[in-house]
Amino acid sequence: MAQKHKVVVTRKLIAEAQNLLNTVPGLEVVQWPSEQPCERSWLLEHAKGAAGILLMLSDKCDEELVSKAGDQLKVIASFSVGIDHVDRKALKERHIRLGFTPTCLTDAVADLTVMLILMAQRRGGEAMGKVLAGEWPQMPWHPLLMTGPQIRGCTVGFLGFGRIAQATLKRLLPFGIKRAIYLTSKPGKPIKELEDQPGLATEAVGSIEQLAAESDVVIVGCPLTPDTKHIVNADFFSRMKKTAVLINIARGPVVDTDALVAALDGGQIFGAGLDVIENEPNIQADHPLLKQPRCVLMPHIGSATIETREDMAIESVKNLLAGLKGEAMVNEYEL
Ligand code: DGY
Repeated sequence: MAQKHKVVVTRKLIAEAQNLLNTVPGLEVVQWPSEQPCERSWLLEHAKGAAGILLMLSDKCDEELVSKAGDQLKVIASFSVGIDHVDRKALKERHIRLGFTPTCLTDAVADLTVMLILMAQRRGGEAMGKVLAGEWPQMPWHPLLMTGPQIRGCTVGFLGFGRIAQATLKRLLPFGIKRAIYLTSKPGKPIKELEDQPGLATEAVGSIEQLAAESDVVIVGCPLTPDTKHIVNADFFSRMKKTAVLINIARGPVVDTDALVAALDGGQIFGAGLDVIENEPNIQADHPLLKQPRCVLMPHIGSATIETREDMAIESVKNLLAGLKGEAMVNEYEL
């Protein structure tokens, strides 16, 4: 890299990723100095003249940002698998490359998905809430205390059947699920491997209505696009079994929150396990979903294992550097 490049990084990074960045000769690193979200005004101001920007899923990468940066901008490296915060058209038009981290977080998110399924079916949030509120003495053990549906024998429906969904399905096999159904726009090779599992029927379904009606567990794992916004809505819930649970590990706006609250209120579904929600992180204590005992809500921690966040940081830096040098990235999003 003979020419000096300015790069902007919107968070403090873990030491290994930081060292990787700091030891590159000829690089001017301008970095938001905190773990807290980077201010938009700071990003817009410092983007000017940048050849690369490493940003998080909470930093909008839009027309305004790339035009503020200027014509020399070559690469955006997103510290995420989801890229709904990135205006892909704006990048494509300017021949700016996009790096992302789709593979290193698969296991962590699949693990959390299993946790959410079990918490939603077994009423984990509600049960803990009662203990924490000192209500256990008023609810001595009895045969039907805090009962919920069992995962064995379930039909699990995947809305989106990419890496995380398939890794989740592999984890669910030992639980004895009976059937896996999925709706996907991109059938691929690994699905074949899962279709050949003994004792498990796996099949693509033809419609979202069928997925809703036949699943005991619905797992939302599709990307957020204009087509998938509120794809899980009042109509979807009206078709779900009363004993079924909804899990969302993708993006909040794929699920219509008001419709979910109504479905839980009206007993249309058994429960929900969410790692994401519309308008996160601005969820106040009086949010209607927090009043739903059968809803478990996590603050978007799907990829939050120490190992995974280290890998994401290193991979993001590698993608950034590869983009600057015009080399192959670890993972590049085809625009
Ligand atoms: C991502 O990277 O898009 C995930 O949502 C973070 O866990």
